[in-house]
Amino acid sequence: MLLTSHQLGNLTLPNRLVMAPMTRSRAVDGKPTAETATYYAQRATAGLIVTEGVQPNEVGQSNPLTPGVHTDEQVAAWRVVTDAVHANGGRIFAQLMHGGRVGHPEVAGYQPVGPSAVATGTEVFTPTGMQPAPVPRALAVAEVADQVAAFADAARKAVEAGFDGVELHGANGYLIQQFLSSSANQRTDGYGGSVAGRIRFAVEAVEAVTDAIGAERVGIRLSPGGQIQGIVEEDVPTLYGELLKALPGIAYVHLLATVDDDVLLDLRKLWPTSFILNPGGQISPVESTREQGERWLANGADLISYGRAYLANPDLVERFRLGLPLAETPGRETWFGAPTGYVDYPSYQH
Ligand SMILES: Cc1cc2nc3c(=O)[nH]c(=O)nc-3n(C[C@H](O)[C@H](O)[C@H](O)COP(=O)(O)O)c2cc1C
Repeated sequence: MLLTSHQLGNLTLPNRLVMAPMTRSRAVDGKPTAETATYYAQRATAGLIVTEGVQPNEVGQSNPLTPGVHTDEQVAAWRVVTDAVHANGGRIFAQLMHGGRVGHPEVAGYQPVGPSAVATGTEVFTPTGMQPAPVPRALAVAEVADQVAAFADAARKAVEAGFDGVELHGANGYLIQQFLSSSANQRTDGYGGSVAGRIRFAVEAVEAVTDAIGAERVGIRLSPGGQIQGIVEEDVPTLYGELLKALPGIAYVHLLATVDDDVLLDLRKLWPTSFILNPGGQISPVESTREQGERWLANGADLISYGRAYLANPDLVERFRLGLPLAETPGRETWFGAPTGYVDYPSYQH
């Protein structure tokens, strides 16, 4: 099944493998480099590539050395990347990642913002190593609208840069999930409290992006019940069920396996368009496997995303097709910002 084609929005994907978004922290001045273009072009046989998290505005930058998509210079730099992927026959979405409270003034130049003035209680990456996450500044209602607009503006810029679409990062404890969460979101206005209040920011952001670039070019990533970055959520099946029902009919949802399979299967049933599943979730000890992918496709997923397997296997599709062994996943020391371990993994040597 993994190697059959699938219609995603207006795109015909040649297979059901998605390269999962992975931050690699190798941008220069907030821009992807020529190496970034090589890295993604090497992986262009994936049915779809979703890029590393890309900040939609300055305050949304969560990690050091990540790229943005909010200036003309960044658009020009991304154009080189999207051209390289398209020249190799691929398709690529940008992941719009607003870190919210998961950030640091030494990274973004601003005090991070969030739904409420509540810190994660964990540490964040900074140029001088891990540091405690600061207390964010709670967004006033008018400022919430500004962050929604930032997603829409960045989506327009992403399309201008040649991306086939964008994925809103609603997972892993960043801004969108902070609004969903009862720990990060203690608001008493229309953006908190009830389920309808908690899902409102996610829905408004998706609607604004859809209005900006068209529903067929939009997806959202979610990690129901995921607990990293100090996230606590109440009544996960209801929260995410109501969210999926309230979203406009975008191209896809991209779910991490962060909750019981029966909850995921119920969410699958009530979602009308494409459903991407990431078996490895929030970096479980064992990375997503081919067998897990085939099982989830049999259970109703449309596409399967692979993260770590793509680090050292640019030709993952070909390796699955021919039953070739996979190159071993590299250690964490090359995941972020290292001089090696990026574009230096060859295709299988026959
Ligand atoms: C180096 C690295 C960076 C990651 N960065 C992101 C990211 O920017 N956005 C995101 O949604 N997930 C990110 N993830 C999570 C992956 O997309 C994926 O969900 C996770 O690795 C589990 O899937 P796997 O078992 O296939 O690797 C990252 C994972 C890794 C290993």
